[in-house]
Amino acid sequence: MALGDFDLREEIMPVAAVIGAQWGDEGKGKIVDMLAEKAKMVIRFSGGDNAGHTVVNPYGQFGLHLVPSGIFYPQTTCIIGNGVVINPEALISEIYMLNKRGVDTSTLFISDRTHLIMPYHILLDGLEEEARGGKALGTTRKGIGPTYADKAARLGIRTGDLMDKEIFMERLRPILNHKNLILTKVYKASPLSLDDVYARYCQYGERLAPYIRDTLTMIEEALIREEPILLEGAQGTLLDPDFGTYPYVTSSSPLAGGGCLGSGLGPSRLTHILGVFKAYGSRVGSGPMPTELKEEIGNSIREIGHEYGSTTGRPRRCGWFDGVAARFSTSINSFTTAAITRLDVLDTFPQLKICTGYKLDGATITHFPASISSLERCQPIYEEVPGWQVPTSDIRQYEQLPAEARQYVARLEEIISCPASIISVGMRREQTIIRKPLF
Ligand code: GDP
Ligand code: IMO
Ligand code: MG
Repeated sequence: MALGDFDLREEIMPVAAVIGAQWGDEGKGKIVDMLAEKAKMVIRFSGGDNAGHTVVNPYGQFGLHLVPSGIFYPQTTCIIGNGVVINPEALISEIYMLNKRGVDTSTLFISDRTHLIMPYHILLDGLEEEARGGKALGTTRKGIGPTYADKAARLGIRTGDLMDKEIFMERLRPILNHKNLILTKVYKASPLSLDDVYARYCQYGERLAPYIRDTLTMIEEALIREEPILLEGAQGTLLDPDFGTYPYVTSSSPLAGGGCLGSGLGPSRLTHILGVFKAYGSRVGSGPMPTELKEEIGNSIREIGHEYGSTTGRPRRCGWFDGVAARFSTSINSFTTAAITRLDVLDTFPQLKICTGYKLDGATITHFPASISSLERCQPIYEEVPGWQVPTSDIRQYEQLPAEARQYVARLEEIISCPASIISVGMRREQTIIRKPLF
């Protein structure tokens, strides 16, 4: 049979990437926790403990920062992939918290290629933000940017380096000297002690050693056994360093393409790319957001939806669904399917708005501009649609949603040109409407 005679994607087991389609906090954790029941492996591939993934399931409510959201299923291997940056202290506390609450973490593995967030990265993240003054990016101050910068500059230290204390010291000594120069000369801050940092990180290494692996081999074996795999995205597409609202972005790629690089899965392995869209817009940190609602409605959405950051507790900026940004997101990720979350948060509004274009300097545009100064001048063009004003959180069948809610979902599907196979109507795992199962 010639290769073109059959669709390879139907012949192989699913490898699905779950990707944040907006500015993060779309509900990726909830969706992964729900889908992981049928997956054999869940891989985090980007970011670090800047992420906060909320999961509500029979074990309780959890805010996960580094551990993949599949950890609640004993049959699911959870991998922190090579593209992630790790604050070992944060990871150790997260493992401790999970164990204390009855969650087994023996299925967790950390790629030896992950980069370590060092104490100077955290200090520099804060100092750089202070130096930006009014132009601060609003980072989570977890050391994410400085760690990825060092990775690119070949000044990083990888988790695998902790496994040989001599190699670790060899790597740490010159790098710490260099960082201390920056801390003291540029920022007039105190230097860090080599002995202290070395001793602390050696202890972390000992504690994390049972989890550290060459995870590529494990992923390869799962592929050979044709086991379903989930990639768990962190952050959101519009925070991507290339395609997001640069410089108001994070420092690793949250896109489906980033999922391949950050896990070691080749692009042709992905069979499904699921974009997670909140039914409206939110953003935490600085940078343009054309549909932001600064007054009453924005505050109502924030209060009804408890829109406060799960990592920093900061209030999230809220606004109507931005169809221009959403279409752009679908295009650069090539989403094959979508999840629409938090539909229930819109339950009480008599009228809803959807942004379908922008007015920029008198012209109408339907593309997402690269320049933030253009984006800051964009005025959203809205389409008004009726609300449903009926509680939806207890609904489990799509057909039982009020007609206006189905019309709203259908309009979003049309705008993003992608079918919504999952509709989420509450925080809990079971508060989900599945129109077409992924696995
Ligand atoms: P993530 O970073 O994409 O995993 O999202 P976060 O966990 O930071 O933020 C999403 C918030 O929405 C969390 O508090 C979730 O528990 C909550 N959530 C997820 N899906 C729904 C939903 O359908 N309805 C409601 N009301 N809350 C949801
Ligand atoms: P999850 O995975 C929302 C934002 C920060 C800031 C910018 C840069 O929970 O969706 P960083 O600390 O990464 O250098 O900050 O990115 N940011 C997020 N916003 N959700 C996230 O993750 C985020 N991770 C980073 O608020 O604006
Ligand atoms: Mg979050």
